[in-house]
Amino acid sequence: MAQAATPTITQNILRDGLILPRTPDPAAMVIFGASGDLTARKLMPALYNLALNRYLPSGFSVIGVADTALTEDEFRAHMEQAVQKFSRSQPVDRAVWQSLAEGISYVRMPFDDAAGYGRLAAELDRLDRERGTNGNRVFYLATAPQFFSVIIDRLGAAGIAKAGEGWKRVVIEKPFGNDLKSAQALNQAIHAVFAEPQIYRIDHYLGKETVQNVLVFRFANGIFEPIWNRRYVDHVQITVAEDIGIERRGKYYESSGALRDIFQNHLMQLLSIAAMEAPPNFDADSVRDEKVKVLKSIHPIDVANDVVRGQYGPGWVGGQQVPGYRQEVNVSPASTTETFVAVRLKIDNWRWADTPFYLRTGKRLPSRASEIAIQFKNPPHLPFAKTAVQELTPNVLVMRIQPHEGASLKIAAKIPGPVMRLRTVNMDFFYGSSFMVESPDAYERLVLDCMLGDATLFAREDEVERAWGLVDRIEAGWASQPPPAFPNYAAGTWGPPEVDALIERDGRRWRRP
Ligand SMILES: NC(=O)c1ccc[n+]([C@@H]2O[C@H](COP(=O)([O-])OP(=O)(O)OC[C@H]3O[C@@H](n4cnc5c(N)ncnc54)[C@H](OP(=O)(O)O)[C@@H]3O)[C@@H](O)[C@H]2O)c1
Repeated sequence: MAQAATPTITQNILRDGLILPRTPDPAAMVIFGASGDLTARKLMPALYNLALNRYLPSGFSVIGVADTALTEDEFRAHMEQAVQKFSRSQPVDRAVWQSLAEGISYVRMPFDDAAGYGRLAAELDRLDRERGTNGNRVFYLATAPQFFSVIIDRLGAAGIAKAGEGWKRVVIEKPFGNDLKSAQALNQAIHAVFAEPQIYRIDHYLGKETVQNVLVFRFANGIFEPIWNRRYVDHVQITVAEDIGIERRGKYYESSGALRDIFQNHLMQLLSIAAMEAPPNFDADSVRDEKVKVLKSIHPIDVANDVVRGQYGPGWVGGQQVPGYRQEVNVSPASTTETFVAVRLKIDNWRWADTPFYLRTGKRLPSRASEIAIQFKNPPHLPFAKTAVQELTPNVLVMRIQPHEGASLKIAAKIPGPVMRLRTVNMDFFYGSSFMVESPDAYERLVLDCMLGDATLFAREDEVERAWGLVDRIEAGWASQPPPAFPNYAAGTWGPPEVDALIERDGRRWRRP
């Protein structure tokens, strides 16, 4: 079989002139759940784009594992269709696809079938011999969470994950557990086969360019960090707002809700990146140590006073009439699952004491927007006539994660004219127009990092467990309260009325991104 050409150093030079620190070693990626939605929508397009941009090593190979009866040609054709449909780069380059496809094979087996793992081991051996993958393997668990433990257990029993020639790494999709206890049990099951440095827990938010840019903004510029603290920051708002409903995910969402689906992972990641101290360097553990310190510093949440939950009823979003959550497919007509949650957090450390963090996420909100907004304190004195500053709002630095990725700083400016009148204006940075290149998909970055052995943008065991500890506390608080009066917000609004009270009692207001 022909091998993909080894990328040269020159080919690895990025457009802006930086050189990749390393090219991944030749490796095989085993995708469990290869006939599923995530593989088609994200993984295979990410691999194709990595190949297109020459980031994949020579001999890179993929083994798809699932239970549908497919020949290897059928599986490759299915993957090609997926790339044609979901790749960000279009049209698909035939030569690049052909070269990637030559390394794609398929092993059909139920995940709990011990004999299947024997066939998988034989296929991996063949790739080592024929394509030079040298025992380097990524096991990507793109499956429903109930299969995580069984797959790991069988990999261990079959000796496929054993140290020896080459490295072995495992990627675990979200959700990682359902509460603290199940996350701990899953960590224990994985640790029976893989050591912590081999484990890559995905939170795709961390692969987004703009989330990484928060770190660059903070730690590569001299001007922000000195004011990034309680002395200058009035409060922080972190929002992950979705205008969509639950689409066809009713069954999953009924057992999850906004708290588990978004708060435990994406919101906690954004919080820790916004609030962390500067790490001594950017290696995986230095960064994650600082993130964990933030989670450890969160003041015990007073659930009755500092948490608001909601569930959408029917309403209008984007000019369209939409059903309420309880009318969605596979949702109980009496469901008490929350589709909205807002939390007021305090962080007990020197940087943030007395600076509240307001976090919110919800479905069927008026717009899709993920952002971190740092609102600064007002100037101590305004030497202007009161009428001149009526429309003035404090300085706000907004890091936009999606859409319109970038950042903006709200500042006061004088309205042109013979009288002194002030208004707030935006200084804007848009990713798209500044760099004139499309951002890679988060999965491209994360898959490449995993192959390079860089776990900085993956969640560590203690991080995940800390976040689940917070979720458990909120769940326990809710369990001691009377059942919620759901639905309590109309689709197309910014959540239940209590969410405004949560922030307004502190004399502040939610942003409307
Ligand atoms: N879809 C997304 O965009 C997305 C985004 C973020 C995270 N995730 C996470 O990614 C994971 C996968 O989601 P998905 O949407 O891809 O799920 P999915 O479409 O239901 O795919 C599940 C895959 O698992 C295989 N499978 C199921 N039971 C099996 C068994 N007993 N033995 C062997 N194969 C079996 C299926 O293969 P057969 O049907 O061929 O048996 C299929 O390939 C989940 O943890 C999800 O939370 C998904």
